[in-house]
Amino acid sequence: MPKSTLITGCTGQDGSFLAELLLLKGYTVYGLVRRLSSPNVTNIEQVRDRIHLLDGDMTDQSSILTAVKESKPDEIYNLAAQSFVATSFRQPVLTADVDGLGVIRLLEAAKELVPDARIYQASTSELFGLVKETPQNEHTPFHPRSPYGVAKLFAFWACANYREAYGMHVSNGILFNHESERRGLEFLTRKVTHGVARIAKGKWDHIELGNMEAKRDWGYAPEYVEAMWRMLQQPKPDDYVIATGESHSVREFVELAFREVGIEDWETYVRTDPKHIRPAEVYTLCGDSSKAKRILGWQAKTKMPQLVKIMVKADLERVGA
Ligand code: NAP
Ligand code: GDD
Repeated sequence: MPKSTLITGCTGQDGSFLAELLLLKGYTVYGLVRRLSSPNVTNIEQVRDRIHLLDGDMTDQSSILTAVKESKPDEIYNLAAQSFVATSFRQPVLTADVDGLGVIRLLEAAKELVPDARIYQASTSELFGLVKETPQNEHTPFHPRSPYGVAKLFAFWACANYREAYGMHVSNGILFNHESERRGLEFLTRKVTHGVARIAKGKWDHIELGNMEAKRDWGYAPEYVEAMWRMLQQPKPDDYVIATGESHSVREFVELAFREVGIEDWETYVRTDPKHIRPAEVYTLCGDSSKAKRILGWQAKTKMPQLVKIMVKADLERVGA
């Protein structure tokens, strides 16, 4: 009997890579998708006929209960979120509802219907926010800096609480930034590689960015979904930092991306626009994933320079001649 899994957020970057991974491993894959006027299925196009799509929304308890009842999952991966930090400042209530309360809705449904299911919660390095030490590990204190970070903090502790109170197998993956050719266009890395490709092909003459000095620990998304799966194969639930251990500035990322298309005087093509500056910034992130290496046998392979190459190449191909 193949294992059954429910992935929320299966149309997103991570959800699509995870669906592919779990199909390869022989799982029956169910994906929660919200109804939109035009379906957003680009990321799962190649596996759409092999995933069972279930209507639902993290703000709607009844749809979550129905999805859990229909999928009877052995493993649940909760990846659904309003995941863009900048938007969370403009839509804090929605973000809290989806990213915070939505997790309680899912945990309640699981407690009621599949209490033995193993659950993965997409926690984030944004929990560290105004960092208290570098690098950050599972013991580093949290200090979120956005409504997104605050909602994810609530979700993190909700998961820990259901673990302690009801003995449920719930794990938090504290994932640092991870990117890919499937990354949404508003996130820094994809905004840059997409813009660089268009500039290289003569379709745009500049891109507009915000804080060039922020530093992130950027890894490659397909490797990170493997870590999620490994967490749920452990006999005991736990929390894990997943990161490359290297931190680079936005400026370095931009410079490397332009260099990839042979442009050295990149500053000519970049303007700064204060509208991209956040009310409170996370200045620097760098993760220590030695616990994941020790217990899960997981380690990042792709580092930032290689990631830039992968993403620029994909965007050049997309933009075409
Ligand atoms: P993403 O590409 O933005 O995908 C988010 C997914 O959530 C999409 O499938 C989206 O559906 C779905 N969603 C949004 N609101 C929903 C709602 N109300 N009900 C049901 N589904 C909803 O994000 P990602 O980069 O794959 O990240 C996956 C998860 O990991 C997120 O929880 C994110 O916060 C977290 N995370 C990401 C990173 C990172 O660097 N990528 C790092 C740490 C943690 P639509 O397609 O309909 O929009
Ligand atoms: N998006 C964006 N657009 N970011 C910019 C820009 C710009 O024009 N200019 C500078 N930045 C800076 C941001 O201020 C931030 O410091 C950094 O680039 C990265 O921004 P994002 O790519 O939007 O990602 P994020 O780090 O805020 O959040 C992502 O990673 C988190 C994990 O740390 C998201 O995927 C979150 O969902 C995830 O939890």
